[in-house]
Amino acid sequence: MKNLVKITINNKEYSVPEHTKVLKACEDIGIKITTFCDDKRLIPTGACRMCVVEIGTERRLKLQTSCSTEVKEGMIIKTETEKVANARKTILKLLWASHPNECPTCENSGECKLQDYSFEYGVDIDDISNIQEHRGIPINKDAKFYSIDSNKCISCNKCVRICSQLQCNDALGLNNRGPHTIIERASFKGDTNCTECGACVHVCPVGSLMPKSKEKFRNWQIKKTQTTCSYCGVGCQLNLVTKNNKVVRVDPVMDSINNGLYCVKGIFAYNFINHKDRLTNPLIRKDGKLTECSWEEAYEVIDFNRKKTLTEKGGAGFAGLSSARTTNEDNYLFQKMVRVGFQTNSVDHCARL
Ligand code: SF4
Ligand code: SF4
Ligand code: SF4
Ligand code: FES
Repeated sequence: MKNLVKITINNKEYSVPEHTKVLKACEDIGIKITTFCDDKRLIPTGACRMCVVEIGTERRLKLQTSCSTEVKEGMIIKTETEKVANARKTILKLLWASHPNECPTCENSGECKLQDYSFEYGVDIDDISNIQEHRGIPINKDAKFYSIDSNKCISCNKCVRICSQLQCNDALGLNNRGPHTIIERASFKGDTNCTECGACVHVCPVGSLMPKSKEKFRNWQIKKTQTTCSYCGVGCQLNLVTKNNKVVRVDPVMDSINNGLYCVKGIFAYNFINHKDRLTNPLIRKDGKLTECSWEEAYEVIDFNRKKTLTEKGGAGFAGLSSARTTNEDNYLFQKMVRVGFQTNSVDHCARL
């Protein structure tokens, strides 16, 4: 068991395990702290400074980043002072100096930390309007499933870190410095390590890395439903984002077996659900040609052949192969039907091919 240290947060005493980060200690008692670059799954770097709080002793308090500072016995922490608010507001104003004012048309609007914090800390419209000239960096659309708009990047480095530290791909880099910073996909002779897992896209606190979505939507038009990915047996938890009952995006579930990380299929391969080429009616082979038929007709053919094969060969005459492109519930029913109705345990799923 870890030793406890006594600290004071906003004039109240708490005992917390040693080596806890100040940010976590505050969050654990319900104090919300603004962050851009923090992600509990990554090594803290203190890049954005948005999480600064006053830390020290009664005699001397200093602004320090809470995400990268560990608690110490007797530490005094103040999270709500004017000094803290002013520091955060200054950081926001500096970010706006090179950030395009595109909120009305930005796909991230409504889910953007820069937008939310600017509202919370009362950043003036003048601070946003007096921006430097738009950097005019072309949007990088090289990836199949996401785009990179470096003009909106706030250099928090989270995308680069998650790709390197958790996905072990090192496929992204922050090149150049200051207002010239640009997010680039690393490539060697035209090849990229990027597996399009989407981890970088989901950690981006602004609209710099965005999924290439065919649908336009705002966050108040959507509903999120947690489910289990059907593409393989790992059991990754994900949130299906739906608008008018149609899947328009997949979001990570953080407290899950997969720790909010995915492969390209789980996170981006959902367009088949509403694809125009999907079969909506059963097909029967008639004179060697697949022909549309009614469900009743299809069931009659299935049942006729089921009985015939059972009589001739028993359950050994059957095998069932199911699809990842159907629901978990349908897959469950399918294996039940094969085991009970077709009397065989030879049932499998395309994820194992
Ligand atoms: S990234 Fe955020 S702050 Fe920037 S334009 Fe988009 S919504 Fe606005
Ligand atoms: S999609 Fe995945 S592999 Fe590709 S750059 Fe982003 S985190 Fe790295
Ligand atoms: S692209 Fe997004 S996650 Fe990456 S450094 Fe820029 S703001 Fe941060
Ligand atoms: S969240 Fe602490 S420095 Fe960025």
